[in-house]
Amino acid sequence: MKVIKVKNYQQLSEIASVMVSDLLVLKPDATLGLATGSTPIGLYQHLINKYQKHKISFKNVKTYNLDEYCDLPKNHQESYYTFMHKNLFDHVDINEENIHIPSSEGDDLEKRCEEYNSMLNRATIDLQVLGIGSNGHIGFNEPNTPFDQETFIVKLTEKTRIDNQRFFNSLDEVPHYAITMGIKNIMNAKQILLLASGKSKAEAIKTLVTGEITEKFPASILKKHPNVIVIIDEEAASLI
Ligand code: PGA
Repeated sequence: MKVIKVKNYQQLSEIASVMVSDLLVLKPDATLGLATGSTPIGLYQHLINKYQKHKISFKNVKTYNLDEYCDLPKNHQESYYTFMHKNLFDHVDINEENIHIPSSEGDDLEKRCEEYNSMLNRATIDLQVLGIGSNGHIGFNEPNTPFDQETFIVKLTEKTRIDNQRFFNSLDEVPHYAITMGIKNIMNAKQILLLASGKSKAEAIKTLVTGEITEKFPASILKKHPNVIVIIDEEAASLI
């Protein structure tokens, strides 16, 4: 695991975007694993900018998102489907059929998981973008998720619901369940780029960098992956 410390969120976003765009230049039909949340928004803005300057194209890029809330319609303003379109897909030349986001619509959620998992197992993700939860979650793999877990329905911890409350009108509106890639799916990516910014991530980054590998802290498994780059800003790095 290589840790790169940068000054601030702007630098973090810029450096991450160079890594992603270098890949797209070398491999225009790359498969990206994408994340939602506040952290990757700057990265996506830089990628849109590079696309507008004709430096990169998403024409042949395929994407797989980490997760999606249950009990929110796809077009809800806080669904990850909406987030990805608003923050990246609507502004670049990606083909809608190359976009993959877990679907929690319909009755048979177990079937939705199996379908997404089979798709993931047929794909090879060249680069997986990750954020990290303050409790060490990656995707929505909450503490004590088995490391060999594949795509599943997760009950979100209260900590995660409270962390995500800022996107909703009240805590009551934050979904209790989500569908998420499992840790095993994430570990199958050829390369992983984890981004963390701000004081609220400092404790998690300390545990990631200095702690042991344990299912109590899901991100710790990344130490076993051969190709992980962690980019953190000064505030996120303040406890290491
Ligand atoms: P954030 O979320 O980018 O909104 O901080 C990260 C995560 O929970 O994985």
